[in-house]
Amino acid sequence: MNHNQQLQARQNTIQQLFANSVRLLAPMEGLTDPLMRQILTQIASDLGRPYDWSVSEFIRVTQTVLPAHVFYKYVPELHHDAKTASGTPIHIQLLGSDAQLMAENAAYAAELGAPAIDINFGCPAKTVNSHRGGSVLLDEPEVMYEIISAVRRAVPAHLPVSAKIRLGYTDTSRMDDIKAAIAASGADWLTIHARTKTQGYKPPAYWDKIQNFNMLAIPVIANGEIWNSEHAQNCMTQSGTTHLMLGRGAVTRPDLIAKIDLDNNDTKTLTVLAWQDLITHQIKFLEGAAKNDVVLVGRYKQWLGMLTKGYSEAQTLWERIKREKNKAVIIAALQNSTCE
Ligand SMILES: Cc1cc2nc3c(=O)[nH]c(=O)nc-3n(C[C@H](O)[C@H](O)[C@H](O)COP(=O)(O)O)c2cc1C
Repeated sequence: MNHNQQLQARQNTIQQLFANSVRLLAPMEGLTDPLMRQILTQIASDLGRPYDWSVSEFIRVTQTVLPAHVFYKYVPELHHDAKTASGTPIHIQLLGSDAQLMAENAAYAAELGAPAIDINFGCPAKTVNSHRGGSVLLDEPEVMYEIISAVRRAVPAHLPVSAKIRLGYTDTSRMDDIKAAIAASGADWLTIHARTKTQGYKPPAYWDKIQNFNMLAIPVIANGEIWNSEHAQNCMTQSGTTHLMLGRGAVTRPDLIAKIDLDNNDTKTLTVLAWQDLITHQIKFLEGAAKNDVVLVGRYKQWLGMLTKGYSEAQTLWERIKREKNKAVIIAALQNSTCE
């Protein structure tokens, strides 16, 4: 393909991706890792409303072009056409402040098979921000512009490049500058977590502020504090976009994606995925690949803790296994929780 054909191919891809309202599973470091992505994308597919795509946990770019094994560790899906077993594409997210190095890493990720590159401008972590990465760059829109445009130039023209931001660093005063930087950078779409870095993860999310970005000529995806279908509806109304990214809510209620798109108001309140049906997925999680069982059990307890917000049955199970370290015992307790 020559350059023009690649450009046309990218326009076609973007048009297809956003032909309908997209529903995305958020990148969450230490939470939506490959195993959790596998489980949550499978559940969504089984419910008949697969995620359109998900984004990897951020891969931090500091001093070098990372070796292939690092990309494969974060995104083992690269071995399978960059898709989870249920067929959900995984985009690769990079985080860093050196435009040239970000560009080189993005080009390498593309070579390894990334279907799209996403750039993180939202991470609030101190260690990341102190190295001028993540949300701190929201105070330096000119650097955001440099990074996105360098990545855009470095990857093949048919590959989309997107950015994920918050509304600002300490406040929203730079929002217009951020908007201008994104517009000039050549980003293909923008995901907005509707809070500043200072607002952290504390409710509420300011969905209405997303409207400020809707005059950009690219699709805008709203994110933040969507825990049920009512929130999703309110978020769409207030933000003025129908494209949504689901984060912690999708881990707490893995059927959230399906519930959002039920159009009959009455059925919205029905349980789509009952606790019994979730049990096999939890067992699969406990049988999944991990460094060792201690890590896996720790990760499972993190998930079960979140499930207590979505399922009353999870609370009972939590009380039973919270001190348990043995994976087999936890699996047995899970199997028993079906017949209660
Ligand atoms: C534990 C955790 C890890 C996160 N890691 C990332 C990350 O690697 N990249 C990123 O862009 N956002 C990350 N986020 C932000 C989420 O993608 C999302 O923007 C945020 O959680 C708001 O959505 P929610 O309220 O639906 O959870 C993380 C959030 C959490 C809670």
